[in-house]
Amino acid sequence: MNSGMQSQSNPAARLRALSGIQPTGRFHWGNYFGAIRQYIELQDVGEAFYFIADLHALTTVREPDRLRGFVRDAAIDLVALGLDPERATLFVQSDVPEVAELTWLLMTVAPMGLLERCHAYKDKKAKGLAADAGLFTYPVLMAADILAYDADVVPVGEDQVQHIEVCRDLAGTFNHLYGTDVFRLPKPRLVDGAAKVPGTDGQKMSKSYENTIELFEEQAAQKKKIMRITTDSRPMEASKNPEQDHLYQLFSLVGSPEDVSEMAELYQRGGFGYGEVKKAIVAAAKDTFATARERRRKLESNAHEIDEILAVGAKRARAVAGHVLERAREACGLSRSSGRRPE
Ligand code: TYM
Repeated sequence: MNSGMQSQSNPAARLRALSGIQPTGRFHWGNYFGAIRQYIELQDVGEAFYFIADLHALTTVREPDRLRGFVRDAAIDLVALGLDPERATLFVQSDVPEVAELTWLLMTVAPMGLLERCHAYKDKKAKGLAADAGLFTYPVLMAADILAYDADVVPVGEDQVQHIEVCRDLAGTFNHLYGTDVFRLPKPRLVDGAAKVPGTDGQKMSKSYENTIELFEEQAAQKKKIMRITTDSRPMEASKNPEQDHLYQLFSLVGSPEDVSEMAELYQRGGFGYGEVKKAIVAAAKDTFATARERRRKLESNAHEIDEILAVGAKRARAVAGHVLERAREACGLSRSSGRRPE
């Protein structure tokens, strides 16, 4: 029985959360309310590992300086939002080369058909765009990311659930094929009401749809964006089901519970204009992110502190991933002598 099994069946073992986020631009409300808020909550529940997925970002960001800048901004944003490097391990994906090796092992058990059904690749192909092998095998790298840290839960938004299913599939296939329990099977964790945050046009908020509200954009620009959110042509006096309205959904993310239930009543009563809701979103967002904005301003001028956090994080992450990789190498016959690799 290997060490993976022992920790899996130990009821005293702490829940381990892991997640990744791509540095492909500035973070938006979808990233925060769907995922980052969960990262912060989970750092107080058990062990937590969070990384900036620069290897995944390489499938879209092709300018080295921009990528470096996005990685730095991502680290600053996460810490400013409340990710505490004392309680969670924060690192950059490519600082853990063990993950790339694990990706290859998983690639050898990944059916083409499974990857062909994954939406990132399928959508690009459907649009007639050329896809590279990096995009096609993206879910395998993501599976390695998760399995390398023996994660129990993966806090994400709805769009990542399919990838976590692929991860479970590959882990199960590998375990079965080699008659081991090397890999722990993770579960996705979603937040009710924030698993698919709408953007300014009512579709899912996403950088690729250009409908985002960025977390740290300049406040006047943010206000303008919010005031321009698309609405329907409901007459002033008509009542409306709040749950079906993206403005209400956005307000429910930033407003206090009392203000949100008052807003729900207002929707049901009718007799209000959408402009009022938009103004309420602007004001509530200002309060919600005031502390994070302040922290961010301080961190921006402290490059050394961020570098140090990421270096410590990479060291901790490598130690865990190294063990898992070793188990996987041993299981499939790559280690010549009981799990030890030559130095
Ligand atoms: P990414 O960088 O696109 O998004 C980061 C996180 O934000 C969530 N998210 C949303 N949640 C709710 N509503 C939205 N509109 C919204 N938009 C984005 C995403 O679901 C995600 O949780 N493939 C991943 C990165 C990754 C990863 C991993 C995640 C690489 N390896 C391992 C988990 C585990 C991605 O592209 O996320």
